[in-house]
Amino acid sequence: MRDALPQTIHLQDYKVSPFLIDKTDLVFDLGEDHSRVTATLSVRRNPDSDEPSADLVLHGSEGLDLQSVQVDGVNLKEGAYTRDSESLTISGLGDSATIITEVLIQPQLNTTMMGLYRSRTMYCTQCEAEGFRDITYYLDRPDVMSEFTSKVIADKVLYPVLLSNGNPIASGDLDGGRHFVTWHDPFKKPAYLFALVAGTLAVVEDSFTTMSGRDIKLQIFVEEKDLDKCDHAMLSLKNSMRWDEKTYGREYDLDIFMIVAVDDFNMGAMENKGLNIFNTSAVLANPKTTTDAAFQRVEGIVAHEYFHNWSGNRVTCRDWFQLSLKEGFTVYRDSQFSADMNSATVKRIEDATYLRTHQFAEDGGPMSHPVQPDSYMEINNFYTLTVYEKGAEVVGMYHSLLGDELFRKATDLYFDRHDGQAVTIEEFVKAMEDVSGRDFTQFRRWYKQSGTPHLKVSSHYDAADKTLTLDFAQSCPATPGQPQKQAFVVPVKLGLVGRSGDLPLNANGDTEMVYEVTETNQQLVIENIHEAPVPSLLRGLSAPVKLDYPYSSEQLAHLMANDSDGFNRWDAGQKLSFSLLEKLTDDSLHQRPLVMDKQLVDAYDSLLSDASLDPAMVDLMLQLPSEAQLHEEAHIIHVDAIHSARKFVRKALAETLSDKFLAVYQRHNIEQVYAPEAEQIGRRSLKNVALSYLMLIDNIGVDLAWKQFQSADNMTDKAAALSCLVNCPAAAVQSAAALAEFEEQYREEGLVMNLWLQIQAINSQSGGLKRVEALLEHSAFTMRNPNKIRSLIGAFCSANPVNFHSADGSGYQFLQEHILALHSQNPQVAARLVTPLTRWKKFPEPNRQQMRDALQRIADEPDLVKDIYEIATKSL
Ligand code: BES
Ligand code: ZN
Repeated sequence: MRDALPQTIHLQDYKVSPFLIDKTDLVFDLGEDHSRVTATLSVRRNPDSDEPSADLVLHGSEGLDLQSVQVDGVNLKEGAYTRDSESLTISGLGDSATIITEVLIQPQLNTTMMGLYRSRTMYCTQCEAEGFRDITYYLDRPDVMSEFTSKVIADKVLYPVLLSNGNPIASGDLDGGRHFVTWHDPFKKPAYLFALVAGTLAVVEDSFTTMSGRDIKLQIFVEEKDLDKCDHAMLSLKNSMRWDEKTYGREYDLDIFMIVAVDDFNMGAMENKGLNIFNTSAVLANPKTTTDAAFQRVEGIVAHEYFHNWSGNRVTCRDWFQLSLKEGFTVYRDSQFSADMNSATVKRIEDATYLRTHQFAEDGGPMSHPVQPDSYMEINNFYTLTVYEKGAEVVGMYHSLLGDELFRKATDLYFDRHDGQAVTIEEFVKAMEDVSGRDFTQFRRWYKQSGTPHLKVSSHYDAADKTLTLDFAQSCPATPGQPQKQAFVVPVKLGLVGRSGDLPLNANGDTEMVYEVTETNQQLVIENIHEAPVPSLLRGLSAPVKLDYPYSSEQLAHLMANDSDGFNRWDAGQKLSFSLLEKLTDDSLHQRPLVMDKQLVDAYDSLLSDASLDPAMVDLMLQLPSEAQLHEEAHIIHVDAIHSARKFVRKALAETLSDKFLAVYQRHNIEQVYAPEAEQIGRRSLKNVALSYLMLIDNIGVDLAWKQFQSADNMTDKAAALSCLVNCPAAAVQSAAALAEFEEQYREEGLVMNLWLQIQAINSQSGGLKRVEALLEHSAFTMRNPNKIRSLIGAFCSANPVNFHSADGSGYQFLQEHILALHSQNPQVAARLVTPLTRWKKFPEPNRQQMRDALQRIADEPDLVKDIYEIATKSL
């Protein structure tokens, strides 16, 4: 255990900062041994503070080696200020002062990837949420916004490129082979948006003309060898800029927009003002080395970080409890963008699946928290699926409740009213209320209550009265600290599907409505319904809830074939396969024979036979719920039984419909010039799903996969074939050969080798841990790079359930050891690895106890970083 318990920070304790910083002048003198940071801060007392004689308490981490402190030109002697491991306190200040501090730091020894650190040959920064205090003493809180000027000095040969936020205003050579560039950012910003980059970087340039006719220079900085992987990010950036003008009326503000790609990065990317820093995995893309999924991820992340320029930077957060204000809203915006750029239904299905699989699991686990948490120990632990994805769903619900026009009016009002301010979620809700005249008091519960609500619906059709009655009952399970919940506002988008399609719901002939469930129990009566319909409920997952309606398999099959809503056609198929898998899991658990369901075979048969259907939709409909999703929905997770049931269904489908799968494979296995666009992506995905089914039949799949592996001209097909071979017990020889060939071909491509690691990490055949342990020693792996840790250790523990949960507990032991090996080196990455262990309560013995023991051993570690301390103790 640690000596002192980490502090809990509470939303209700928020106080405005006693001081503001109008201007921030930074000088970075970057050296190989240490770097000197000189910060000149123009501070002034905050007129809104009720502590008019408060001390100035600057945040600053233990690693800052303080050289000097000056107040208004006078050097303070030691003793004239106080210092502890997190702050520097100066007392007796007047209304305003100029504070100059000088510190030495050693970025080359910084392994946390927060603050200023080195990634390979370059210096870079990551300041959100509280990394700026690792660079210099400062008021490192988002409601202190300042105008920054940054001078960066470094060796000219090693670091020819010197970047920071805003515009370059001066540059020149200095003695000793050094040079400098000074940057000025005219927009006030909190310190978490500060960035600096220094290194040898190549650049791809382009330009964008904004709607008001200003020319913006666009630059993507990468290592020379990656210059051929920037086109997609550049195109995505221009598309994002255009889209935000058209959709939200938001124009870019500075004259330059820069993206820098770095290999060592804790997250995907960061929206620093004018200088976004990206994980190479989130920006580089090229058909030869990048899968379709990765292309789409690049598009989405480039858009996300760009959109933050308004939703996050121009209007920022008052404190970190407001995180969803920028993240939830921006995820909503990037999803809309991706929907517009590709297929809206496909994107919605992907998002809904992600939410149901991962966010619902978080909301039902020990770390469950509201979209607006009310306390935290370590803010980095609250960049969660709930804050992001559920937060985005909440924004989406305003959109459905207000409609397009009012929603746009509301976001315009929000941006205009709060431009340049650090605000709360409450301000966002007020803008929604002010334009619509609605009262969102009850709706606000979405921010404060945790847990996934359940919506139970039943229906009664009265043939004589021609009325359909829908009874709704909502509830929400108890979550940590919240035993009782109040009713939510649940917008239910619905239609009624008759024999030959949607029925009119009213005299206007509308076939869809958004019905608001606001009470615990509520009844809707729809009149003039001339036949007994099948209700199509919660279309597009119109609220982040679990729906429970007693559909028969015939009704689901009917929706699959006839619902006008694509999302619900897909969802009906999911429900159908889900109930079968649930039953087969139980059969498997009790050693009853497994029997395939005819209805599902027929449904698959018609999907495979109808060449007129959109391949992307067929692809999604052919995918059974993942094991992770089955785990989420299970009461008790029987890992092996779930795995066997799913494997049985896949094999039964493959065997019964082998000729159809083969036909689909061949129909979509066409030669074409690769483009990462929706139609092609759908085809490739469908083809590769068909291949994965064909792998389950003797003699067909292995040859096809081997051929595809050899002949593929793009990484999507190559990796899919490799993955098929690796997971196929009958392809041991081909799999070994393909892995070796792949390694030989892509040895120099770090990101491709991560895929190679990941494909092996999630191989579900037995012996998984041994394979992963061997790969830890491979030269493509290092514990120093977060992407590699995620590709191997992270993937094994979260996406290879049968191996990770093996009966001897070795998977848990393995994870525990690696978390403890990593925790002080990189607390953030280590903390994210803990998640699989926190779900121990859902597993049967002996796993349950083994997982708990592993978690306990983590919690018992002396000097455990608070990131992990918080998760481990809250989960035990
Ligand atoms: N602001 C975050 C980056 C961040 C996350 C900084 C956590 C500090 C701690 C950024 O905008 C972000 O959300 N990035 C996501 C990708 C996005 C598409 C959801 C990421 O990095 O995963
Ligand atoms: Zn973000």
